[in-house]
Amino acid sequence: MLVLRALFLTLFVVYQANALAELEEVFAWKELTFDWPNEDAKNAAIKDGEYVPENNLPLGLDRWKNKLFVTVPRWKNGVAASLAYVPLDAPINKSATFIPYPDWKANTIPKGDTKPESDNHIISTFRVSVDPCDRLWVMDTGLADILGSPKQISPPAVVIYDLNTNTLLKRYTLKEHEDVKASSFFANIIVDVTKDNCDDAYAYLPDLGGYGVVVYSLKNNDSWRFKHNYFHFDPLNGDFNVGGVNFQWTDGVFGLALGPQDSTGFRTVYFHPLASLNEFSVSTSVLKNKTLADDPHIYNLFKLEGKKGDKTQTSASVFDEKSNSLILTQLNRDGVACWNPKKPLNSDNFALIAHDPEKLIFTNDIKIDDERNLWILSDKMPAFIYRKLNPQEVNYRILKVKVDDAIAGTPCVA
Ligand SMILES: *[C@@H]1O[C@H](CO)[C@@H](O)[C@H](O)[C@H]1NC(C)=O
Ligand SMILES: *[C@@H]1O[C@H](CO)[C@@H](O)[C@H](O)[C@H]1NC(C)=O
Ligand SMILES: *[C@@H]1O[C@H](CO)[C@@H](O)[C@H](O)[C@H]1NC(C)=O
Repeated sequence: MLVLRALFLTLFVVYQANALAELEEVFAWKELTFDWPNEDAKNAAIKDGEYVPENNLPLGLDRWKNKLFVTVPRWKNGVAASLAYVPLDAPINKSATFIPYPDWKANTIPKGDTKPESDNHIISTFRVSVDPCDRLWVMDTGLADILGSPKQISPPAVVIYDLNTNTLLKRYTLKEHEDVKASSFFANIIVDVTKDNCDDAYAYLPDLGGYGVVVYSLKNNDSWRFKHNYFHFDPLNGDFNVGGVNFQWTDGVFGLALGPQDSTGFRTVYFHPLASLNEFSVSTSVLKNKTLADDPHIYNLFKLEGKKGDKTQTSASVFDEKSNSLILTQLNRDGVACWNPKKPLNSDNFALIAHDPEKLIFTNDIKIDDERNLWILSDKMPAFIYRKLNPQEVNYRILKVKVDDAIAGTPCVA
């Protein structure tokens, strides 16, 4: 019995070792620095409390060519710029300085009670999305100092930039009552568009606090909101232990990932609430249809795919079409996992592909770029929110791995 057990444990360890991919640590920061116009501007910002280094936590990311976009939500006061990028030109500086995007002016909070002068501004953003038409989509919540003295500077809006010219294409403000509820919290944006039809783009905006999904159509300049029981959190799975911090969250629908197009041109959207172990799906033929948003008979158009397993709570997820794999952050397991929807979703087919009890503390966002690199941002956010980060340690990392290397040897490879 003991021998068998030892053998089993050995096999298990070997299997785990084979399954876990080696990640390249591309960036590692103790605290974030920004590309100020000059040293005087930086010192003035520190003096005025407009830049409090320890309050700047990177959270979301996406890549376009030699720019890696990183968001810095205004959780606390003193965020220098909420939208920035770090250059990917060689040689990469591992603790690179953040360059505000599109510029400093757009990232500057208006003084006192004044409103932003133009549509070209970003107050606070959690996640962004680069689309195949060289555009950057930003979900601007408009809310500053969330954990301190929250201030709604501008209403939640979808902001779109042309990446080739770095100019604003559009700012679409969500509808005050229809789209935005008192408890709304928009922390993610998923863009559904193909390169040959750039005008016909949709953005899906999960509302983790209001338990809904807002759909925005660029072509129709319109938005609508879906609600569904599956957008709610699971009260039995909102307990987290991450980086030595215990906390309870009620975050609902959070990650949406677009599966491959079917013969009708629509896609399966895989989605999950954050505080949940389940994965669900719905067709984009449903989400894109404004009429259905008000239809009370749509309950069965949303499906339960299955349960991922214990401690598998996920923030962001992405879909890799070539391998047909859904890739998901694993907040409660310091890692990243995958699942191939050709197989039923259960804990056997759900594989941990990256794990590191230090480097992957709170895998907040992931993205796949055009070269099929998987980018992972980890940022110790629970300690940032509930305790204090140690500025002598590396707190924020961005890591990279080829998708095929990440999923090799797992049930995700068909
Ligand atoms: C990397 O960037 C940091 C922050 O700007 C700077 O302090 C450091 O000198 C840079 N390192 C190199 C090797 O350029
Ligand atoms: C788009 O819709 C908003 C209202 O939601 C409106 O204020 C704006 O003028 C519209 N833009 C265009 C170009 O029609
Ligand atoms: C939206 O759904 C309704 C009800 O199923 C259907 O009648 C209508 O044709 C759909 N609209 C589009 C544009 O597909």
